[in-house]
Amino acid sequence: MSKGKIVVTGGAGYIGSHTVVELVEAGYEPIIIDNFSNTEERSLEGIASILGRSVTCHRIDCTDVSAMRTVFQQEQNIAGVIHFAAFKAVGESVAEPMKYYHNNVGSLVALLQVMQETNVTNLVFSSSCTVYGIPEQLPVTEETPVQKANSPYGNTKKVCEDILTDLAVSGSEVRSIALRYFNPVGAHPSAKIGELPLGVPNNLVPFITQTAAGIREQLTIFGEDYDTPDGTCIRDYVHVVDLAKAHVVAIDRLLQGKAEPIEFYNIGTGTGNTVLEAIKAFESASGIQLNYKVGPRRAGDVPKIYADVTKATEVLGFRTTSTLEEAMLSAWNWQLQLQK
Ligand code: WQD
Repeated sequence: MSKGKIVVTGGAGYIGSHTVVELVEAGYEPIIIDNFSNTEERSLEGIASILGRSVTCHRIDCTDVSAMRTVFQQEQNIAGVIHFAAFKAVGESVAEPMKYYHNNVGSLVALLQVMQETNVTNLVFSSSCTVYGIPEQLPVTEETPVQKANSPYGNTKKVCEDILTDLAVSGSEVRSIALRYFNPVGAHPSAKIGELPLGVPNNLVPFITQTAAGIREQLTIFGEDYDTPDGTCIRDYVHVVDLAKAHVVAIDRLLQGKAEPIEFYNIGTGTGNTVLEAIKAFESASGIQLNYKVGPRRAGDVPKIYADVTKATEVLGFRTTSTLEEAMLSAWNWQLQLQK
């Protein structure tokens, strides 16, 4: 007997696919909605291979209200929604802000309209630590002032959080839990699903694994003149499977009626690592010497940020189980699997 039908927008994507696996393993029935603009069909094959069964997938764009309405009307008794569908490359958002506002904000507005029309009231929202901009204090807590983010990407997440907050204040039936991710890395231990960057990767870890695999010539470290121990930026790298599990706990909390109208949680490890430390962790995990050089800073980058995860630990019972090296090894195993 299923614990309930959960619509997972962006469910064929990196974090979405890992969450779909954890939802099934927790007894839920996920329904994927994805337009495949930032993933590939093989993601569904990987999910099916891990689960031994396929998962329903509707190939539509979340900004298309009528298509979304059709799916929500077709899929009876939807217990909740996890909304991943968004673009997420900080650097790219600086160059193409309107692409990010249309997709990231437009898809949430369309989703909320259809949820209200079809009386679906539970939403887990994929937010981001980039809403904190350049924090004055570290680690950041959920009470850290959310300010103008340091990139259009981060600002789309802040605008989306404002929409959910205004909806909660308006007395809407919709209850939301916003999970503010830090840096998702790694891949499922089966190496059947993982990050599938289309084209040149924007993110650090896929660029590392593609360089190690000889697909990229050399990794460029974007700046080593930051006020950090080795001059490179600090991030909080959280294993994608740990992150996926946090979504299951959040949907549990909503379906059990324990959540306030809007809640925010930092989902990270609580530890910050520099880019150079991340590279060393990869080299130690894979046994491969990485070819890298130092280049100029990247626009939109936050110098250092990592999470205070006390609230997620105490309220959600969230805990990370993987080390950075284990995450790097899982990313490398996934890269090797991709080459086959
Ligand atoms: C990490 C560090 C770069 C590439 C990510 C997600 C975003 C959000 C926050 C969830 C930075 C450096 C990178 C390269 C480099 N997460 N870098 N060379 O920008 O922190 O954003 O986490 O919502 O969605 O994208 O991640 O992996 O791009 O960069 O030196 O080739 O690695 O400067 O310091 P970022 P990233």
